[in-house]
Amino acid sequence: MDKERKLIIAGNWKSNKTVAEGLSLVNDLKRELAAVKEVDIVVAPPFTALESVSKAIIDSNIRLGAQNLSADGYGAFTGEIPAGMLKEFSVGYVILGHSERRQFQKESDALVAKKAAAAHAANLVPIVCVGETLAEREAGITEQIVEGQLGGSLAGLSAEQVERTVLAYEPVWAIGTGKTATSAQAQEVHAFIRKVLTTLHGEVVAKRVRIQYGGSVKANNARELLGQPDIDGALVGGASLEVRSFADIIKNSI
Ligand code: PGA
Repeated sequence: MDKERKLIIAGNWKSNKTVAEGLSLVNDLKRELAAVKEVDIVVAPPFTALESVSKAIIDSNIRLGAQNLSADGYGAFTGEIPAGMLKEFSVGYVILGHSERRQFQKESDALVAKKAAAAHAANLVPIVCVGETLAEREAGITEQIVEGQLGGSLAGLSAEQVERTVLAYEPVWAIGTGKTATSAQAQEVHAFIRKVLTTLHGEVVAKRVRIQYGGSVKANNARELLGQPDIDGALVGGASLEVRSFADIIKNSI
């Protein structure tokens, strides 16, 4: 697949995998994916497995992501992990504003923007997630919702920072449900996101930003989805927990 933007496929393990299970998975992935150069490959384990996974993937083509970070720095913020601590484990990416955090932790666009700024300040690449619920899609307000989330979650970032940010379009109704957006539905929103980015930061930046699709991506739909002109990768939940399915998603997208 020939694209002007390099594909980026990330596995979001969510609250899964003990240290031993995570190590077993990345060791298998390393073997399966050693020859892949066309795709940036990222795994995002829970915080507790970051250190061991980090050591296991040194000298491999797999990069490390975290699933959250603190909007604040070091100090009296019980239970929070600042970017500087993630850097100790060579974390390169951080997933921000995932719909599960927006829903269960009540994360707002403003908080996501603060976290994205903290990520950039530490030289971490944020993967900022946006996406509408089923009710919003059915009400015909998908674009309005996505535009609002984008504006709010990227607020305050410079054009250079936005260019380095990875976006993930994840329709909430497609996450963990087995219901994937059709490639046409996904492409339509991805193209819209690029249009919003053009308005916010100009065409050059908009053309360079990588936009992942997420929501029930599997080995059998990856090629079709990632073949769309504005889809530059995938954020994978359930199918990233097993070597076969995650490796096949990556191989099928090349
Ligand atoms: P899923 O999750 O692949 O299990 O639908 C995607 C995500 O939440 O990032």
